[in-house]
Amino acid sequence: MKAVIPAAGLGTRFLPATKAQPKEMLPVFNKPTIQYVVEEAVSSGIDDILIITGKGKRSIEDHFDRSFELEYFLRNSGKTNSLLEIEAISDMADIYYVRQKQQKGLGDAISCAKKHIDGDPFAVLLGDTITQSNIPCTKQLLETFYKYESSTIAIEMVPDERIERYGIIKGTEISNSVYKIEDMVEKPTLKEAPSNLAITGRYILVPEIFDHIESIPPGVGGEIQLTDAMRLMNEMYGYVLEGKVYDIGNTVEWLKSSIEIALKDESVKYELKQYLKELLKD
Ligand code: UTP
Repeated sequence: MKAVIPAAGLGTRFLPATKAQPKEMLPVFNKPTIQYVVEEAVSSGIDDILIITGKGKRSIEDHFDRSFELEYFLRNSGKTNSLLEIEAISDMADIYYVRQKQQKGLGDAISCAKKHIDGDPFAVLLGDTITQSNIPCTKQLLETFYKYESSTIAIEMVPDERIERYGIIKGTEISNSVYKIEDMVEKPTLKEAPSNLAITGRYILVPEIFDHIESIPPGVGGEIQLTDAMRLMNEMYGYVLEGKVYDIGNTVEWLKSSIEIALKDESVKYELKQYLKELLKD
């Protein structure tokens, strides 16, 4: 299976940080966001990855490319651990790129993958969304996809005040954590929302999706919405992920993810904990 990582968005919720750099390159603790996303795909058994890029996203390509000058410097100065780490980033997977020429929405970004996907089911991992779980989230989705042999998307229960930020599904639970989807709506008001189950950045889709994307008009925000295209699919399932999902495009979630991930790192954990304790005293 191949994976598609859309990373062409303008990141307007994170301005000015994203004025001259992609939000997918914002560091979460010590790695750029998109590296976590690629690592999740790889640890889910996927090594053919298409990144949808756009204007001003060049640093994403540079990050996954070899950097001979840096490697030479690290080798000569005996920084072997850093050298191995840097080399591993460019050896992780076969990464391909295609540019979305105009930021017309997530549905439009996915349609740029049609040729590369070439008629097979594929995974989508949003480039600004990272997950933390024991079993990689995309691997969890793949298990449900193979069981039901239909498109399967990640969902999570969100509180009322966050509903307006997501696509929300209407569905019936058919087994533990699995919902058969009957309908979905992009960024509804609390009143319109059919449930609290939000679509959260990971999808396994069959190629039927490309025809639906071509057939839909712009939706919420004047964008070609993936949710609107998914509504037209024959059969779809939602799977409640076991783990945590962070939308890095949201500044508070970005901060939370950095803190939570740093708190798992032995080299900074103690100092950070002490600092947070002190800070919260007042
Ligand atoms: P978002 O809607 O969160 O990204 O899309 P955005 O448009 O950059 O965000 P804001 O609202 O302006 O802050 C989720 C993912 O889809 C990609 C984004 O890069 C992000 O990783 N995307 C979005 C595209 O590739 N193309 C688009 O036209 C829109």
